[in-house]
Amino acid sequence: MMKKCIRAFSILLILLMPAVVLGTADRIVPDNLTDETKSCLECHQTEMPGLVGEWRYSRHYGANVGCFECHAADPKDADAMDHNGYTVSVIVSPKDCAECHKPEFDEFQASHHADAGKILGSLDNVLGEVVEGPAAAVSGCKQCHGAEIKVLSGGMLDKSTWPNSGMGRLNPDGSKGSCAACHSRHSFDAALARQPENCGKCHLGPDHPQKEIYEESKHGIAYYANIDRMNLHSSSWTVGLDYSAAPTCATCHMSPAKDMPLTHDVGSRISWTLRPAVSQKIDAAAIKAGKQVKSWENRRADMKKVCSNCHTSSYVDNFYGQYDNAVELYNNKFAIPATDIYNKLRAGNLITTDVNFDDEIEWTYYLLWHHEGRRARMGTAMFAPDYTQWHGFFEIAERFYMEFVPQVEDIISANLGKDETRVKAANEVKALLEKTLNQPDHLWISGKEPDEVKKARLKAMEEFKKRYAE
Ligand code: HEC
Ligand code: HEC
Ligand code: HEC
Ligand code: HEC
Ligand code: HEC
Ligand code: HEC
Ligand code: HEC
Ligand code: HEC
Repeated sequence: MMKKCIRAFSILLILLMPAVVLGTADRIVPDNLTDETKSCLECHQTEMPGLVGEWRYSRHYGANVGCFECHAADPKDADAMDHNGYTVSVIVSPKDCAECHKPEFDEFQASHHADAGKILGSLDNVLGEVVEGPAAAVSGCKQCHGAEIKVLSGGMLDKSTWPNSGMGRLNPDGSKGSCAACHSRHSFDAALARQPENCGKCHLGPDHPQKEIYEESKHGIAYYANIDRMNLHSSSWTVGLDYSAAPTCATCHMSPAKDMPLTHDVGSRISWTLRPAVSQKIDAAAIKAGKQVKSWENRRADMKKVCSNCHTSSYVDNFYGQYDNAVELYNNKFAIPATDIYNKLRAGNLITTDVNFDDEIEWTYYLLWHHEGRRARMGTAMFAPDYTQWHGFFEIAERFYMEFVPQVEDIISANLGKDETRVKAANEVKALLEKTLNQPDHLWISGKEPDEVKKARLKAMEEFKKRYAE
């Protein structure tokens, strides 16, 4: 791309012409749009007035950043097209935005968001591409995660990869991601990006219901009751200074707070990772690989800087205590034992084939960690008791005791009559299952709990019944 950053110039312009920058959709065109952009407008103003109207509403318009400044392409670019005497491309990649927004670009590239397109080898991808089918992945997975954009002759884009504004899109210029995943064109309005609905395009549903969790949390309740007090259109948006009614997703994960700048790395305030079967601290994998990253303690300290605008430190510390305990309960009682048993079944060749998702136990284990296992952890992380309980731990318990354990027992008994290696493997799994069910927190199901524990529960039950009899 052969563009020049005109930011310094436009800041000068902003100082000199505040009326132009702060005006509304029908501002007068300042005369210093580039000649190229003026020429684009000659056609596009009449061809697609809706698109141009949004651009006129944007801060880019106020700063004289026009069509040409974003869409101009180098003839050598993979997706360059000849267009009425100009060389343009449809895709405006993060690398293009970076010419004027380098800090945002650098933070974004370092984040998990930029890597969201790298899902090819995942178990979920087998589900999407194989068990379901490729067209489902094009219109499903990849609209959230990002497609690898393929260019046809003349700069046209392949329909199996475009339109796409998935978070980790793989662009023709080799860059990762899409700024338009959050900054919809052509208003590129920060107000849109700050709302929970923006993140909710992707962060919802049975395996990561952050949007639903937020809606049922005290924070979401306060947000929806007070949208008019959220000051969403303000140019500066620091919690505690510019608004105080409620935090949004962006407030906690990205936006500035007192003594802390905006970040475009959404992982930089998170201490656990709640996506894998077994949760670990977010820096654990990097430490293991010998890489230096921001520690989980520093990330948590930064999140607390957001909370501290509205809560005391003891309130927030106690919350983190509850949260850590819930994640550890999930890990130690269900996830680690189920994962160990499942891996032993696989290692002993007791699951019939190497193909994923052709056996019941494979679906059971997947749902246990990927669906309810995530919901329980995420509900706790963001203050939604119903997701923690009924959509979370309740369903984990049901899946574990009523499906996983019986299915493992069936596999064991089906293999005990077979050849020597299978009998040996089945006995190993059997021993592991017994060990698990003899963990103190699983003893209730075999009736092996100490008598005083049983008695205390019976007594409590009787008292509870009496309450209703009166
Ligand atoms: C002579 C009129 C004309 C001029 C000048 C012009 N455009 Fe276009 N442009 C069009 C029309 C018409 C379309 C296609 C609309 C359609 O297909 O529905 C289009 C399409 C596009 C597309 C989408 C292409 C695609 O394949 O999806 C982009 C991007 C674009 N123009 C950018 C620009 C830029 C940037 C400039 C200025 C450098 C410019 N245009 C100048 C008329 C023009
Ligand atoms: C700040 C950068 C920026 C500016 C300024 C800008 N665009 Fe775009 N434009 C984009 C992005 C981003 C996309 C979406 C492509 C992508 O996802 O990479 C896009 C998409 C388009 C498309 C395809 C849209 C569709 O829905 O078919 C057209 C046409 C287009 N722009 C024309 C224009 C015209 C005309 C102007 C000037 C009035 C303009 N753009 C100004 C960034 C910009
Ligand atoms: C040629 C330089 C240039 C390019 C390229 C550019 N921008 Fe901007 N952008 C600016 C300037 C200048 C401002 C206005 C700053 C201000 O008003 O304070 C701005 C403002 C913004 C804002 C703040 C909007 C608000 O409501 O506060 C966002 C978001 C943004 N740009 C996103 C993007 C994205 C995404 C791209 C790429 C698709 C992009 N920009 C490409 C120069 C550019
Ligand atoms: C509605 C949007 C959406 C769809 C559709 C979707 N995902 Fe996701 N996916 C997400 C989000 C959001 C996350 C991150 C959740 C979190 O961090 O809590 C995620 C997480 C993942 C992860 C974990 C990544 C990691 O770093 O641990 C994989 C792998 C994955 N998705 C693959 C897929 C595949 C394959 C499909 C299609 C079968 C798919 N996803 C469909 C939004 C989506
Ligand atoms: C996950 C969503 C998300 C993505 C992806 C994203 N942004 Fe942002 N961006 C935001 C939010 C939210 C804000 C507003 C934060 C605030 O003001 O509190 C913002 C603000 C901005 C601003 C205004 C900064 C300021 O100091 O006022 C710019 C410029 C910007 N983004 C550029 C980009 C660029 C360039 C990319 C791609 C490299 C990008 N963004 C990707 C969510 C996103
Ligand atoms: C276009 C889809 C999409 C949108 C919009 C989106 N995300 Fe994400 N987000 C994802 C995907 C996909 C992942 C998982 C990436 C991976 O690990 O492969 C993810 C991961 C995350 C993570 C985990 C990061 C980490 O380092 O573990 C956080 C936090 C997050 N997103 C917050 C947000 C917030 C806040 C917003 C809105 C301001 C947002 N996201 C908007 C798709 C999206
Ligand atoms: C009040 C602050 C707050 C709000 C509002 C909030 N979150 Fe979170 N979020 C958190 C905390 C705290 C965690 C757990 C952090 C940790 O592990 O230390 C978290 C964790 C996450 C994760 C990590 C999941 C993973 O896979 O590891 C994602 C993704 C996420 N939030 C997205 C969102 C989205 C999307 C919204 C809005 C719909 C949102 N958050 C609203 C505070 C918030
Ligand atoms: C902009 C202000 C604001 C920020 C920032 C904020 N909260 Fe809150 N929080 C509230 C409000 C308002 C309530 C509702 C209080 C009530 O019930 O009276 C609340 C309630 C809570 C509750 C109680 C939930 C319930 O169901 O009773 C917890 C726990 C909590 N916040 C934790 C946090 C944590 C942890 C953070 C930082 C990650 C945070 N908050 C950030 C304003 C905020």
